[in-house]
Amino acid sequence: MQQDLILLEEIQRFRSDDPIEKAATPPASWYTSQSFLELEEDSVFSKQWLFVGRRDQLRKPGDYFSGTFLRRPYVVVLDDEGAPRAFYNVCSHHGTCVASGEGTTEQFVCPYHGWTYDRQGTLTKAPLAGALQSLKERDLDLKPITVNQWGPLIALHFGIPATPLAAELAPLLDAFADDPFEKLQFVRRATYRVDCNWKVFVDNYLDGGYHVAHVHPGLTGQLDIASYDSTIGQRWSLQSCRAASSPGDDSKGDFPQRVGQHADYAWVYPNFMINRYGPWMDTNTVIPLSADRCLIVFDYYHEGPPETEFLEQSLTASDQVQQEDIEICHRVQVGLNSGVYEQGVYAPGFEAPMLHFHRLLHADFQVK
Ligand code: FES
Ligand SMILES: [Fe+2]
Repeated sequence: MQQDLILLEEIQRFRSDDPIEKAATPPASWYTSQSFLELEEDSVFSKQWLFVGRRDQLRKPGDYFSGTFLRRPYVVVLDDEGAPRAFYNVCSHHGTCVASGEGTTEQFVCPYHGWTYDRQGTLTKAPLAGALQSLKERDLDLKPITVNQWGPLIALHFGIPATPLAAELAPLLDAFADDPFEKLQFVRRATYRVDCNWKVFVDNYLDGGYHVAHVHPGLTGQLDIASYDSTIGQRWSLQSCRAASSPGDDSKGDFPQRVGQHADYAWVYPNFMINRYGPWMDTNTVIPLSADRCLIVFDYYHEGPPETEFLEQSLTASDQVQQEDIEICHRVQVGLNSGVYEQGVYAPGFEAPMLHFHRLLHADFQVK
């Protein structure tokens, strides 16, 4: 009870209605306490579409991938009709995770006692466990999770979705300069563990380019920061930027080719980003691991197969940017943990997308 009151007080310290010039950022507790992570699990992550993988991981019936989001283990499989299905990856017998990693399978056989589920999640065999008929009556199939596809992406909803994913994100698709998914082919995945609360990484993404000049010296002079523009949607925002008209000295030599003339950086509430630049797209999924650690999954796509040398140069340049963001996000977390930082402020010319994120969180926290 006492704890609930403290949590409520901490939520209300963020004054959602204040205009950006006057607003204070959420207090440090939002970024440091286990209670907030638990609140987010119930109030945010259980109520939104969460991107977990790619359609190209599911090419033929039986292809599957599995993963865990906070406490929820899931498996996504292409069923016999060629449609993606998702289940909690939890055996109905004693709870063991049935599938691991990714691959192709006729059926899922639990490694503990051999209970077997088909690709529709139906329990088909329970060795030595008595008549299957009576087991059927007890609803022992794998528990389904709602799954949707959007372009090349697969998303899950752990609750009851109010809107199909494609309908929810149709306005975002329209806001891109061009169809972001056209001609793309998956190239490579990279993952990064970051020592910060998941929202620190998202905040960094949503500062409207404010940090670029300081944190990413290699990008300075390449992007026309003055052209940065933000569009705020319902549960998404889009930051757009032009390349500098006369790119400065680029030691990598490939910048204009890699980034093109225009870059779109889209964010989908709560934890997903789509970056579209030149012939590239990368998506970033931010997965909380604890109150002060998260995992970022980068999936890189290219319009057709890239030249090997260009590919390696581009991914090395991208990795450099990620390392710079990771370092700065860790520094933010150290400050948030210090006990001397209470609430910060926004840079009004840049950080409207970040304030939008905090307002969405605040609204979701209310309806617990
Ligand atoms: S826990 Fe899966 S078969 Fe026993
Ligand atoms: Fe950055």
